[in-house]
Formats: sequence, structure tokens, C-alpha cells
Amino acid sequence: MSAVKAVVVYESFWGNTAAIARAIAEGLGPEVRALSTSEASGKAMADVDLIVAGAPVLGFQLPTDGMRENIAANQIGAPRAPDLSHPSMRSWLATLPAGHGRFATFETGLRWSPGGATSAIARGLETAGYRPVVKGRRFVVKGKFGPLRDGELEKARRWGAELAQAAVS
Ligand SMILES: Cc1cc2nc3c(=O)[nH]c(=O)nc-3n(C[C@H](O)[C@H](O)[C@H](O)COP(=O)(O)O)c2cc1C
Repeated sequence: MSAVKAVVVYESFWGNTAAIARAIAEGLGPEVRALSTSEASGKAMADVDLIVAGAPVLGFQLPTDGMRENIAANQIGAPRAPDLSHPSMRSWLATLPAGHGRFATFETGLRWSPGGATSAIARGLETAGYRPVVKGRRFVVKGKFGPLRDGELEKARRWGAELAQAAVS
């Protein structure tokens, strides 16, 4: 997809969403990078044609800044401390400059949970002027902190390749 500039942007506490983001970027093409919310600013976002943005589902929704404080205090059973060094997806969306490209959204979460993160991400991107390419996609983890279900990284790579096609059509 040489003519289309795409970036994958993620929020991730325990690494599941970051791993999916990297797999989607691989599927999109060799020049596409997966960026944390702190990396996805300035030049990296200039003239972007396709934003693929994702986050974990926490408490049935896109994590709020209040939830981020809670998970730092309450993480019994977590494999490692959560990475809270990047801005939340919510605050990244709130400061995203206006653009006219397209977008796709994804989330990681449990198989049967109600709610989700993708609709709030989509609203933020639409507010900034971006238009959807496809509906949001969930990638599944086996437990509260992961790991990803077997095969999810491969699905993410394939989805990235499909997005590359959809973004040029
Ligand atoms: C406090 C907490 C609340 C969660 N709430 C939900 C939920 O409502 N729905 C869901 O599907 N998954 C929920 N999960 C699972 C996470 O969405 C899942 O582990 C996600 O992949 C974490 O992504 P990350 O590793 O990128 O931070 C929750 C996990 C934690 C720790």
C-alpha cells in the first residue's frame, strides 16, 4: 500500500493490545508502525490516510483515566505491573488534530464480555474528521490479564492485510 500512509495506535497495560497492534501493522505492510499514544503525535501523524486505533476493554468500556489509577492500586494476579507511562486512548483522541483520512478500530478483551472499547474510539476519530473503513474488531484474551487466545496474532495480521486492501478501494 505504497500510496497510503497508515499508522496503528494503541493503549496497552499488560502488552496484549500492543502485540495485536504490532501484528496488524505487519499485515498492513512493511513500512507501517505500531505506535503507543505517546509516539503517535506530530510528524508521525501528519497526512495520515488510515488510522487503526485500539485499546483493551476494562469494566465493559474504553478505559477512563480514573480506571487507570485503580488498576495501578489493584492488580492482584497480574503477570507484571501495568504500563501507565503513555496517555490514555481517551486523552489521545481528545487532542488528535483534525484530519480527513479513514480509520478502523480494535479492542482486546474476554470472549463473552458485554460492552467494548471500539465505539468510543470511533466517536473520537469521527469527531476529528476521520471516516470508518470497516466495523470495529475484537481480539480475544483467555484471562483477565491475557494471554491472547491462540491464533489471535495471525488473525490480526490477516485483518491488517484486509485493511490495506479496503483503504485503497
Ligand atoms: C480490571 C480489569 C477489568 C477488565 N474488564 C474487562 C471487561 O469488562 N470486558 C472484557 O472483555 N475484558 C475485560 N478485562 C480484560 C482485558 O480487556 C484484557 O486483559 C486486555 O487484553 C488487556 O489488554 P492489555 O494487555 O493491552 O492491557 C479486564 C481486565 C482487568 C484487569
